[in-house]
Amino acid sequence: MAREVTHEERGPAVLDDDDKGDDGLIYVCQCGLSDSKPLCDGSHNATTDEQDSAVYKYKNDDADGERREIDEIVYEDE
Ligand code: FES
Repeated sequence: MAREVTHEERGPAVLDDDDKGDDGLIYVCQCGLSDSKPLCDGSHNATTDEQDSAVYKYKNDDADGERREIDEIVYEDE
């Protein structure tokens, strides 16, 4: 499984103690769907039924948006 997500930021985010959860850990979003990037907001739950062999796009990169399967991007030099 994979998903295409559009990123608009052009630099890093700085995290600090305020970003820690109640357990003292910082959870960084790796699914790309969080509305609180770079922090996880639980949006990854929308990906649990994605198929391993598919690539997905969520409308507006929103976990609640329509999800559709897309063709994998293949570059000519691959
Ligand atoms: S890993 Fe992306 S929202 Fe949790």
